Amino acid sequence: MCGISGIVSSENIAKDLFASIRNLEYRGYDSCGLAVLKDGQIQIRKNTGTVEEVNAKEQLTRLKGNVGIAHTRWATHGGVTKANSHPHFSGDEAFAIVHNGIFSNYQDLREALAKQGVQFRSMTDSEVFAHLVEQAYEENRDVEQAFLQALHRVEGAFAIALISKHMPDTLFCAKQDSPLILGIGDGKNFIGSDINAFLAYTKQAVTLDDGEYAAIRRTSYYIKKVGTGKPVKKKMLIIDWDVETTKKGGYSHYMLKEIFDQPNTAKQALQIALSEIKQLVHMINKSKICYLMGVGTTYYVALVGQYYFAQFADRYIATGSSDEFQEAAVVTKDDLVVAISQSGETYDTKMGLGFAQSHNAKTAGIVNVMGSTISMMVDHVIMQGSGPEICVVSTKAAFSQMIILMRVAIEIALLKEKITKDAYEEYYAALNDFPEIIERVLNEQSGFVRNLAVETSHIPNWIFLGCGVYYPIAMESALKMKEVTYLHAEGMPGGFLKHGTLAMIDEKLYSLFFIPLPEQEELHKRTLVAIEEIKARGGTVLGFAFQNDEKAEKLLDYIIQLPKVHPLVAPLLELIVAQLLSYYTALDLGRNIDKPRNLAKSVTVA
Ligand code: G6P
Repeated sequence: MCGISGIVSSENIAKDLFASIRNLEYRGYDSCGLAVLKDGQIQIRKNTGTVEEVNAKEQLTRLKGNVGIAHTRWATHGGVTKANSHPHFSGDEAFAIVHNGIFSNYQDLREALAKQGVQFRSMTDSEVFAHLVEQAYEENRDVEQAFLQALHRVEGAFAIALISKHMPDTLFCAKQDSPLILGIGDGKNFIGSDINAFLAYTKQAVTLDDGEYAAIRRTSYYIKKVGTGKPVKKKMLIIDWDVETTKKGGYSHYMLKEIFDQPNTAKQALQIALSEIKQLVHMINKSKICYLMGVGTTYYVALVGQYYFAQFADRYIATGSSDEFQEAAVVTKDDLVVAISQSGETYDTKMGLGFAQSHNAKTAGIVNVMGSTISMMVDHVIMQGSGPEICVVSTKAAFSQMIILMRVAIEIALLKEKITKDAYEEYYAALNDFPEIIERVLNEQSGFVRNLAVETSHIPNWIFLGCGVYYPIAMESALKMKEVTYLHAEGMPGGFLKHGTLAMIDEKLYSLFFIPLPEQEELHKRTLVAIEEIKARGGTVLGFAFQNDEKAEKLLDYIIQLPKVHPLVAPLLELIVAQLLSYYTALDLGRNIDKPRNLAKSVTVA
């Protein structure tokens, strides 16, 4: 994730441009830079570090000019270096661009450009765009057409902005699956990855939709479709009247924003103090029976936790759905009940905790909302720090809870000498690498997943299957599908299929498999057996498969390909891409995504 911004004005803009990326810094902060046009020349200043550090090094605010673009980076392609920071020049320095997202076909483009003699200054995917524009301009001598031609050649999820010395009064920008908003001011206009980029200067905004581009001048702007060139009329948004949209940060729905927030959510979960984690570890180790309890999504989080505790820490943990807890659990003063709740206000979970406390059991919580009832009720609470989750269906909060439980499991494993210090460090390295992988996969896969969703959204009945820890991941993903699309999706373990559900299989019933890494041999084998059972009966099978899984590739009708990752995080990567599939299916069906019918974010009644 990166932040981009731009200003077209009649005054010096460097200070305002700098302020705009400071306000976007939550989107990335490993390097930043500005490109400003003055007297027909573009000047770029950029470097590594936070925006304040780069300003100290490069005097960004001292640049002179009245049209410019800016960027704050969270590296994905190419390391954190000055050369890889944005903006990027074209070879002849007549164009400068800033880019957020990933051009998924950049390697092919880069190779083709290199063959034609283009010299690259950076290792980024972004730079190709500047060269593509330059090449197109050489042919047609028209900046807008050159910008469009370049847009037609790139694939992936992106927001992009361009300035050129050949058209010094205009800024061009476009977006596809990454946020970008226009700010309409008085005698100056703005663009930004979200409204924070220009909120200090104007409350009037216009959203850009996927597949649209805009040309922005000081006192005017227009928006057109990239595909057809047709002008698009937009409603002006007065921010004071629609604060909700502001907070979506340019995404069409909170759900999508929150799915894309997850690289940050992972980082936040990893930043929770080890002492907090260890206190829960201590309580678990002291308890006779430890229950993980939640309801809806958080029940599936508890199930994921159960597998992680068994596999990594050799510790059996009981799980319970909060609504059934009082009937199913037997709790004594020697036991511990850990409640998992995003809101901290869910009635069923509060009742389950009350039941535990009435039997003098110890209690703990993993909660996102500070000051919430559950966070206050328990003996020890771990605050997730995932930030507000607005969409009714939980994505980033649940994901964070899973990472926290993973950390707890790993800690117990080390303490009990079930794993070596080396293995412990390897797990942490896998977790620390995970945010960047999520970011890349989300950007690379969103176009493919959206097309797949459009192709399959007419299927009314689904089964989601997985073996081992992929089973609760399948359950949670099926719940997400139900909640947000209103379609029927049933989750179950792969091995369960033959004990009844096979009777339902025909070509109209689609299945989605959460396939483990091939090296998770036993689980992988069991999962493939279940796929074959469906294929043999004429069912249609979709599946998540990791790189080099030829056996799975041969069996699947539709494959969602994922890069090879550490087995610890592999199920969570599938979970995140499954969230996208639910989102895009709901989008295609025109559902009320952020507020699905009949549901509420926090169910505080019985
Ligand atoms: C409601 C929501 C679910 C959520 C559940 C638990 O039912 O609609 O999406 O999973 O509550 O919420 P909590 O805030 O306790 O995590």
